[in-house]
Amino acid sequence: MATNTAVPTIALNNGVEIPQLGFGVFQIPPGETKQATLTAFEAGYRHIDTVEMYGNEREVGEAVRESGIDRDEIFVTSKLNNSFHDPEAAAGAFQGTLDALDIGHVDLFLMHWPLTDGGYVETWRAMERMYETGNVRAIGVSNFNVHHLNRLAAETTITPAANQIEVHPYLTQDELRAYDSQHGIATEAWSPIAQGLVLKDPVVERISRRVEKSPAQVVLRWHIQRGDIVFPKSVTPERVRDNFAIFDFELSDADMSDITLLNRDERTGPDPDVFDYIPS
Ligand SMILES: NC(=O)c1ccc[n+]([C@@H]2O[C@H](COP(=O)([O-])OP(=O)(O)OC[C@H]3O[C@@H](n4cnc5c(N)ncnc54)[C@H](OP(=O)(O)O)[C@@H]3O)[C@@H](O)[C@H]2O)c1
Repeated sequence: MATNTAVPTIALNNGVEIPQLGFGVFQIPPGETKQATLTAFEAGYRHIDTVEMYGNEREVGEAVRESGIDRDEIFVTSKLNNSFHDPEAAAGAFQGTLDALDIGHVDLFLMHWPLTDGGYVETWRAMERMYETGNVRAIGVSNFNVHHLNRLAAETTITPAANQIEVHPYLTQDELRAYDSQHGIATEAWSPIAQGLVLKDPVVERISRRVEKSPAQVVLRWHIQRGDIVFPKSVTPERVRDNFAIFDFELSDADMSDITLLNRDERTGPDPDVFDYIPS
């Protein structure tokens, strides 16, 4: 197995260290996730991002157990599905995640979406109680905007360790990232290459040719240099390795700024202020 020495870690606000690059398993079908995760471990990844809603927590857990890598060297994030915001249901769902993964503790547990009914404050209090159990090393949120975070700050005790939000060159999220940073919340960038959309951008292609790295490597490197945490998804072993090989070059300030200027506030996923999807 390759080692993970090339990947920097970021200290969360409770001191827990998270590898800045991980592997996302969204849309990897059941039956393929275990092998994809093992391929990622082989390439050197030690951080996996999943959620109950993806239907593949069990396979992620199997890969962790079968990898031969010490559990303490692997960082696993999962999330509270939208169906389980009720505090009692949330506790049961967290236990469901622990059982499905079957790897002892979870490293980071996030509230997947705030939903629009305002109940996320009570749900966060339920997550604070999960943290007290010691079965999760850090708790955080996902798809929270500034107004959601302000309510948590005013009405609850624990500051989220992380906020996992959509970020890529077409949606740079600078205001929300600045808020996170000012409040000790790590920003995690989901869909970091906008599911492939940004890879054909002429600016990205131009930089890619000049620095002799693939467009995906250029965009992932841009995230790393901005200080965000990323976990690109791929079921293609060459891409899994390509996405990992981003620590042997640097983008110049001019390249960084040219990519940031591509922002057009364009989402590939839902807007958290209107998203209310509850899986049945
Ligand atoms: N919290 C949330 O609400 C939320 C929402 C969405 C995603 N996420 C997390 O973020 C992770 C990543 O986001 P994502 O899966 O939506 O999108 P992404 O990582 O931006 O893009 C994945 C897509 O890009 C392709 N790809 C990957 N590497 C490539 C490369 N080097 N060259 C060309 N194409 C490449 C993949 O194709 P192949 O697989 O066919 O190779 C796949 O179609 C997810 O897996 C999940 O863990 C969280």
